[in-house]
Amino acid sequence: MIIRPIKLEDTAKLSVFHRESLPDTISSKMGKNYLEAIYRSIVKNRGNNLAYLMEEKGQITGAICSTYDLGLFQTQVIKELKFTDYIQILVAIASFKATLINILKRMFFEKTLIKSYKKNYVSILILFTTEKFRRRGIGSRLIKRVLKQTNKKVKYFYVDTLSTNKTALNLYKTLGFKIKKRIADSILLVYENKQRQKR
Ligand SMILES: CC(C)(COP(=O)(O)OP(=O)(O)OC[C@H]1O[C@@H](n2cnc3c(N)ncnc32)[C@H](O)[C@@H]1OP(=O)(O)O)[C@@H](O)C(=O)NCCC(=O)NCCS
Repeated sequence: MIIRPIKLEDTAKLSVFHRESLPDTISSKMGKNYLEAIYRSIVKNRGNNLAYLMEEKGQITGAICSTYDLGLFQTQVIKELKFTDYIQILVAIASFKATLINILKRMFFEKTLIKSYKKNYVSILILFTTEKFRRRGIGSRLIKRVLKQTNKKVKYFYVDTLSTNKTALNLYKTLGFKIKKRIADSILLVYENKQRQKR
């Protein structure tokens, strides 16, 4: 298995796997176009974002996306959205796949996240392993790759997950993340880069 940076040509496939692995997230419910715009924006703005996928014999088995600045990431996604993407989002709202209240809740949640972050951070935005390949160390390897790649510049690594997602919580705790706080139905975890602190 190899880990490599995500490319623009991966975005369509990734959005399919994303929706399968994370069907209940608001981004999945907003539709395929919205998800593809997220991935495109991550790839196009490499200065602010870091994204890898794991591949076996050409097949995607997992992915991780992270950002150095969540506020800037949000602006970059909005810039990436096309008119037709907005139409699809409106359709998702009208058909109650993504309710307006849930979209607003997510926006408020992300505002709280940004306020909770200390300077010099990386925030993990997306992490999944495709179902067939779970429990083989892929999720851990993807996280370790981001930690390794950024640990010279970054002091804090943040990730949030639903408090019901025991699998993800176990994974993060195994890697040394600690619970920072609860926000609504989610938990924010942080990993402190002690090496960088000493400098
Ligand atoms: C969470 C997820 C990314 C883990 O990926 P993975 O490749 O299976 O994880 P790993 O094999 O690296 O597991 C590492 C550790 O995490 C914990 N873990 C992983 N899956 C677990 C499970 N089903 N139950 C309990 N603990 C689990 C274990 O501590 C495991 O170590 P171990 O196998 O030595 O016991 C994967 O289950 C997934 O994609 N879930 C759906 C999407 C999701 O919830 N993403 C996270 C959103 S914040």
